[in-house]
Amino acid sequence: MPDATPPIDHRSQRPVWPVLMGIALIVSALALAFVWVAGWLTPERLTSTRFVNAIESGNGEVYPGFRRAHAKGVCIEGYFEGNGDGAMLSRARLFATVQTPFVGRMSIGGGSPYGLDNKARVRSMALELRSDDGQQWRMAMNSFPFFGVSSVQAFYDQTRANAPDPATGKPNPAIQAAFVAAHPEFARFAAWAKEAPWSTSWANTTYNGINTFRFINAAGELRNVRWSMQPQTPFAAMTPEQREAADGNFLSEDLQARLARGPLRWDMLVTVAQPDDPILDASQAWPEQREQIKVGSVVVERSSAQTTGACRDINFDPLILPTGVEGSGDPVLAARSAVYSASFNRRERDIARGKASAAIGQQPLSVGEK
Ligand code: HEM
Repeated sequence: MPDATPPIDHRSQRPVWPVLMGIALIVSALALAFVWVAGWLTPERLTSTRFVNAIESGNGEVYPGFRRAHAKGVCIEGYFEGNGDGAMLSRARLFATVQTPFVGRMSIGGGSPYGLDNKARVRSMALELRSDDGQQWRMAMNSFPFFGVSSVQAFYDQTRANAPDPATGKPNPAIQAAFVAAHPEFARFAAWAKEAPWSTSWANTTYNGINTFRFINAAGELRNVRWSMQPQTPFAAMTPEQREAADGNFLSEDLQARLARGPLRWDMLVTVAQPDDPILDASQAWPEQREQIKVGSVVVERSSAQTTGACRDINFDPLILPTGVEGSGDPVLAARSAVYSASFNRRERDIARGKASAAIGQQPLSVGEK
């Protein structure tokens, strides 16, 4: 007959099965936590993986090795020159009267690295600033003045609504209409997209941080802020006819030509929130008459191809911030951080597996990539 007495730890003379049970419980709890975080138990929960999947489906195609959004762009390099006035708002080293070098990226919205510049409504600037105190500040800014929707789920719904229908290769108008009806705030963005004039260059476009951040100064005072990079290059509008006639790579061609003549500059303008300004909803612009404080200038000196330039392997996660700057609690910021990381991991994996170069060889490159 088998011996039914539990095994004994002879050193302590205590049965070992409670210890084994404890270990089994801890291992099961950890496995469950992983499964939950991966979203396998909650197929309806929005995860960064599901968001990137939706972006890829919306693109209609996956372009290995490229960003899953804002896929077409060029690397830029230069420095930020603080004028000292930002120090009353934030103790970030950037705002001292010093030059802080950056690697950045100018891009257009959309998921194709071969997208046409003259069809892209949204233009962008991203920066990774490295201060001499060893800290980093990464930011990714867009040419629209406010976000299209008020929540992460709504942006996911928008991404899905704009995905091509496999039957037609185009978005389904009924699904798009249902999205617009469910998100009245989107009307403001649609009006901007339709009516705001297009500028002739990346150089004369304003780039907006969109989400609210917190600045903390040396006295520990905290302020909610938004910021913009306003070009020193005068704005010039493109007519629809000029746009139609423009080359699909005109933005990188124009940038190269301008940089050959000298550096390009933008002023960083910071707006401080007033008591009733919405902090957690980036689809609501703050009143235009708010005072803007000029805290320094972005100076772009060089550009290079995104496939070989220093920006290729940078994830411009908007929550990588220096001391003196924090996220505001706007859930879109946390979502951006998670989704950019998932997108970054996919493109870096493509590159590591040698898939990216195959894709680059198959299609024509933009001027910036020659
Ligand atoms: C929940 C909302 C958002 C999601 C899910 C999202 C998603 C993404 C993804 C997947 C990328 C590619 C990241 C990479 O592979 O490195 C990206 C890039 C970018 N996004 Fe967003 N985004 C969101 C909101 C915004 C907002 C509000 C802005 C405007 C400030 C913005 C500006 C940019 C810019 C400028 C880039 C290009 C950065 C670069 O050059 O690498 N995004 N976004």
